[in-house]
Amino acid sequence: MFKKITNLFTAITFVAVTSLFGFSASAQTPIVIKLSHVVAENTPKGQASLKFKELAEKKLPGKVQVQVFPNSQLFGDAKEMEALLLNDVQIIAPSLSKFDRYTKKIQVFDLPFIFKDADAALKFENSKEGKALLKSMEDKGLIGLNYWANGMRHFAANKDFRVPADIKGLKFRIQASDVYESLMKAFGANGQKMAFAEVYQALQTGVVDGQENSFSNMYSQKFHEVQKTIVETNHGILDYMVVVNAKWWNGLPADVKKGLTEAMNEATIFNNQIAKQKNDEARAAIEAAGKAKIVKLTDAQLAEWKKAVQPVYKQFEAEIGADLIKAAQASSNPAQPKAEKAKDKK
Ligand code: LMR
Repeated sequence: MFKKITNLFTAITFVAVTSLFGFSASAQTPIVIKLSHVVAENTPKGQASLKFKELAEKKLPGKVQVQVFPNSQLFGDAKEMEALLLNDVQIIAPSLSKFDRYTKKIQVFDLPFIFKDADAALKFENSKEGKALLKSMEDKGLIGLNYWANGMRHFAANKDFRVPADIKGLKFRIQASDVYESLMKAFGANGQKMAFAEVYQALQTGVVDGQENSFSNMYSQKFHEVQKTIVETNHGILDYMVVVNAKWWNGLPADVKKGLTEAMNEATIFNNQIAKQKNDEARAAIEAAGKAKIVKLTDAQLAEWKKAVQPVYKQFEAEIGADLIKAAQASSNPAQPKAEKAKDKK
C-alpha cells in the first residue's frame, strides 16, 4: 500500500516538474513535413524520399518529423502542385515534364533526344543553366531544391512496333506536357494527358494503347503486364525537381533550413547513385517476366525516330530559348581533354 502511494507520488511529481519546465528538447513540437509523391517505394524517388526522412530526422532530432506518402496516396499528379502552393504538403518531386505551367523554359528537358544518356542530363542539371532553372519559379511560389534522377524513357504499346510509322493512329498516355503532346502528333499518334495513378487501368482496359516511361516506373506499376512491346527508344529523360513551398521554406528557422538542406543534398547523392541500378534491375525483371518484349533499335530505325521529332524543336524553340537548348545539347558532347582545352585558349 505504502509502495503504491510512493509510486503515485513519484508519478505526480514527474508530471508536475515536466509540465512546469515545459520540458525543452524532448517536448518541443516537431515541425511536420509532408513529402508526397506518385511512384512506388521501390524506385529511385521512393527510396530517396525515405532516405531524406531518415537523414532529416537524424540531423534535427525532435525538431522535424517527415511524413512520406508514396503512390499518390495523399495527392496525385493533378492535385500535388496545387496542394504544395496551399501548404497542404511541403515537399513534392514531380517529373520535369509537369512544370510547364510554371515555367516554359523547363520544357527543354522534354525535347526529344536532347540528352544522349542519363549522365548528360545530370551534367546539364548541375550546370549554371540547370541550377538557374531551380530558382526560376520563385515568383510563382515554388523553390526547386535539387534534381533527382530516374532514367531514360522508352515507348511501349499493346502491339508490335519499331518505327514511328507503326504507331500512327494509336493513343498514348502522356504526362501533362505540351512538348509530349506535340511529339505524339509528330509521330501521327495521339497523346492523352493522364495522371500516373490512372495509367495501369487505362492500358488494361484499352483506353490507351501505349505509354512511355522509365523501366523503373514501368516495372513497379506493372505496365509491362499489359503491354506487348517496349522499344528502347531512349527518347528522353525522366528526372525530377524536388520543390518546396517558397513561403514555408523561407519562413523556417535557420538551423532547420540548414539541416534540411544537408539532408536533401545527401539524399540526392543517394538517389543518383541508385537510379541507374534500379532501372537496370527493372529492365532485367521485365525481361524475366516474359510478358512484354523489349526491343533494341537498329541505327536506321533510331534515325527515323530522330527525323520525325524535328518539328517539335521548331515549335518550342521560341518559348524555351535557343541558348538554353544549345546549353542542354552541349552536355552530350564528350569532355574535352585538358591539354586540348589549354591549347584552345591560346
Ligand atoms: C509519370 O507521370 O509517368 C511520372 O512522372 C511518374 C513519376 O513521378 O515518376
